[in-house]
Amino acid sequence: MITSDWKIATCRLVCSTILNKMLEINKDIEKYILEHTSLEDELLRELTRITHLKVLQPRMLSGKIQGCILQMFSKMISPKYILEIGTFTGYSAICLAQGLTDEGVLHTIDINDETLEIAREYISRSNVVGKIIIHEGNALTIIPQLNILFDFVFIDGDKREYLEYYHTVFDKVAPGGFIFADNVLWDGKIVKEIKHNDRYTKGIVEFNDFVVTDVRVECILLPFRDGIMAIRKK
Ligand SMILES: C[S@@+](CC[C@H](N)C(=O)[O-])C[C@H]1O[C@@H](n2cnc3c(N)ncnc32)[C@H](O)[C@@H]1O
Repeated sequence: MITSDWKIATCRLVCSTILNKMLEINKDIEKYILEHTSLEDELLRELTRITHLKVLQPRMLSGKIQGCILQMFSKMISPKYILEIGTFTGYSAICLAQGLTDEGVLHTIDINDETLEIAREYISRSNVVGKIIIHEGNALTIIPQLNILFDFVFIDGDKREYLEYYHTVFDKVAPGGFIFADNVLWDGKIVKEIKHNDRYTKGIVEFNDFVVTDVRVECILLPFRDGIMAIRKK
């Protein structure tokens, strides 16, 4: 009995030491990544501050690293038309719009009028004002009304609806176009046992499982931040 208690205690100690070490390393690496990524625009810094001050769940904002990733991919793709599902306070929309062609337009949809008010203000002060069209309402209703072929789609709405967004938008993505979906690692919950009432994790898992077997696309799950699924329509 004493031996078994001792074994459990030792095992707990080893596990927690390893975990602490991993967190320490991750924090150091995160700091290093931040220090070696281009500076964030002053307007985006202000938008991050305001979002933290005024909005519940400010964690939903993309933030510096993800904003830079989206900006970089958008500049590589040079899309004429971008669709974003989930504007929130406008951070990712401003980043994505940086890669638009001169005549390009980004359509962004959100159901929450309070956060859209902040998005409107910051988009109007950004260097992409005039290139972003905000749609207020449910993406699942608005997307079918958009008569546009998109080169780049960013899915970042309700996690329970990811697969529905994918099906709704698919025919509106140009051949060779890209769909990126955020939070596909969902804090690591996708590899743990899913509680029967956890519809958010189920939504993400269902989406990831569908996409990887969809013969119409190729995909790569990028392990940045909370995971980005990068999909290319063949
Ligand atoms: C994670 S936040 C988006 C974050 C934003 N893309 C960014 O990076 O800063 C998710 C947003 O999706 C919106 N949303 C949720 N369900 C939606 C739906 N069915 N249609 C449109 N927007 C929706 C929410 O109101 C919320 O603002």
